[in-house]
Amino acid sequence: MAAVLQLLLLFAVSNLCSAVHHKDAPFLHKKFPPYFMWGTATASYQIEGAWNVSGKGESIWDKFSHAGVIHNQDTGDVACDSYNKYKEDVQLMKEMGVTHYRFSIAWTRIFPTGKADSYNAAGMQYYKDLVAELKNNSIIPMATLYHWDLPQQLEDVGGWLNDTVIEHYRDYADRVFSELGDDVKLWLTFNEPFVTCWLGYGIAVHAPGKYEKPGVDPYICAHNIIRSHAKAWHTYDDKYRESQRGKISITLDADWKEPKTNSSADRAAAERAEQFKLGWFAHPIYKNGDYPKVMKEFVAKKSKAQGLPVSRLPQFTEAEKCMIKGTYDFFGLNHYTTQYVADKEDSSYVSYDKDQDIDVTVDPNWASSGSSWLKVVPWGLRSLLNWIKYEYNNPDLYVTENGVSDKNGTLNDTFRINFYNGYINNVLKAIDDGCNVKGYTAWSLLDNFEWRQGYSEKFGLHYVDFDDPDRPRETKDSAKWFKKLINTNGWEELKDASSPKYHPDGRLVFG
Ligand SMILES: *[C@@H]1O[C@H](CO)[C@@H](O)[C@H](O)[C@H]1NC(C)=O
Ligand SMILES: *[C@@H]1O[C@H](CO)[C@@H](O)[C@H](O)[C@H]1NC(C)=O
Ligand SMILES: *[C@@H]1O[C@H](CO)[C@@H](O)[C@H](O)[C@H]1NC(C)=O
Ligand SMILES: *[C@@H]1O[C@H](CO)[C@@H](O)[C@H](O)[C@H]1NC(C)=O
Ligand SMILES: *[C@@H]1O[C@H](CO)[C@@H](O)[C@H](O)[C@H]1NC(C)=O
Ligand SMILES: *[C@@H]1O[C@H](CO)[C@@H](O)[C@H](O)[C@H]1NC(C)=O
Repeated sequence: MAAVLQLLLLFAVSNLCSAVHHKDAPFLHKKFPPYFMWGTATASYQIEGAWNVSGKGESIWDKFSHAGVIHNQDTGDVACDSYNKYKEDVQLMKEMGVTHYRFSIAWTRIFPTGKADSYNAAGMQYYKDLVAELKNNSIIPMATLYHWDLPQQLEDVGGWLNDTVIEHYRDYADRVFSELGDDVKLWLTFNEPFVTCWLGYGIAVHAPGKYEKPGVDPYICAHNIIRSHAKAWHTYDDKYRESQRGKISITLDADWKEPKTNSSADRAAAERAEQFKLGWFAHPIYKNGDYPKVMKEFVAKKSKAQGLPVSRLPQFTEAEKCMIKGTYDFFGLNHYTTQYVADKEDSSYVSYDKDQDIDVTVDPNWASSGSSWLKVVPWGLRSLLNWIKYEYNNPDLYVTENGVSDKNGTLNDTFRINFYNGYINNVLKAIDDGCNVKGYTAWSLLDNFEWRQGYSEKFGLHYVDFDDPDRPRETKDSAKWFKKLINTNGWEELKDASSPKYHPDGRLVFG
């Protein structure tokens, strides 16, 4: 009898163990697979400066920042001056031993007006020089075609709300592939289109600062970006893939949405929130050419309640669905944080936000950072990677951004090391779970222009003195830590498992 009870107990305990929540999983002392890629990332407007030289046109971020709406009235006019200092930046990366560098191309340097007939060879030369410098230092370039700096002249005729932008974007992508594609083999069409459409055309926090129809315009913006992405992917596929042999996808931002309770209503709400944010773009591209079912249902329901004859969510034609479906070679993921989501009916006003019927909160125990929206929740990345694996049939995936901010700019950034240690360990756990993660990219190489927050929120592995006209860089402890992590390709296995050297939540690994 006692033996049976013991067996039952054992069974119960082992069941509990297999159901251990990701947040309670112990630190994993192990190396990454040998092919794993390590890199850092930046974006043109955040680092380049030189906003008005060598034929560059005005972008929506030039105009937005010049309107004085940024924290401290900061602008990206000079930023990190990487337009002039790119060789120094490449040496910082070489010192860390990264395999790849993710940067973005400013459309306004290539086509100052946004249109093909304004081609500017001097602007293209800057990226040719950067790519040549990377190549000479054995760093693989990963180029983003659009990281939020739309040519202002296109915005003047509606920007992402005007579907003529699709052909202009395709022309721009085509030109860049033709000139840089012999050396650039990893392409991202768009960075975080959610942010472009919601922060730019929904709540006016980002350029171009529109908030006229937050229940309509973000959906139109996304509709045009998804079609632009698909056109650029097909352009590459049809004209360049055979000779250039690169890979091209999009990079999407996603938080992990943890159900507030395990009620079925809250679990459905968390799933819905993930579909409304990540699925908005990923579902058409990675699944069936169309928006998530739950998103179509909710926007239609809310539109009907307003008395509208059709849904505010636009529809793809059957031909467009065919054109969009499958336009990826891998999954690009930017991830920073996690939220709790609960079910909550909400029709206080009409917007993309309120269409979801959710209530979003955070745990007061989660560590904070220099950005109000960024709470430190390392295990959320593992949960998200597993969700993507399940939802999109386990695509090859690159983490294209992940990192943390502070406001003090300290070089002794132990808290940043703890952040990376915890999050990167959860990438390793996700690989153990069977997720096809192929690379990790830390945001960011440098402290830089953090959009609406100007230079007040610093994400860099290197400090930049923005008061010095020379913009000198200094190496933070986190960059030295990252170098060691890359060199070890993860963590050494513990010799004596019974006496762990490290704190179970993954605090400081290299003493
Ligand atoms: C470029 O912008 C700077 C301000 O950042 C200004 O001082 C300079 O005169 C401008 N140059 C040209 C050629 O317009
Ligand atoms: C390539 O890098 C080496 C040092 O690694 C340097 O000596 C050489 O001048 C560089 N070549 C070019 C074309 O930049
Ligand atoms: C859309 O853009 C085109 C130019 O690309 C312009 O002719 C047209 O007027 C724009 N439409 C709207 C509604 O602004
Ligand atoms: C989860 O659900 C069960 C019932 O299904 C309930 O007993 C339990 O308290 C819930 N746990 C949490 C954390 O909400
Ligand atoms: C700097 O800011 C970070 C993030 O807010 C914090 O964790 C850290 O303690 C601060 N360091 C110093 C030296 O003030
Ligand atoms: C760096 O900061 C950590 C805690 O934030 C502290 O324990 C350590 O002594 C500091 N190191 C130096 C060299 O100041």
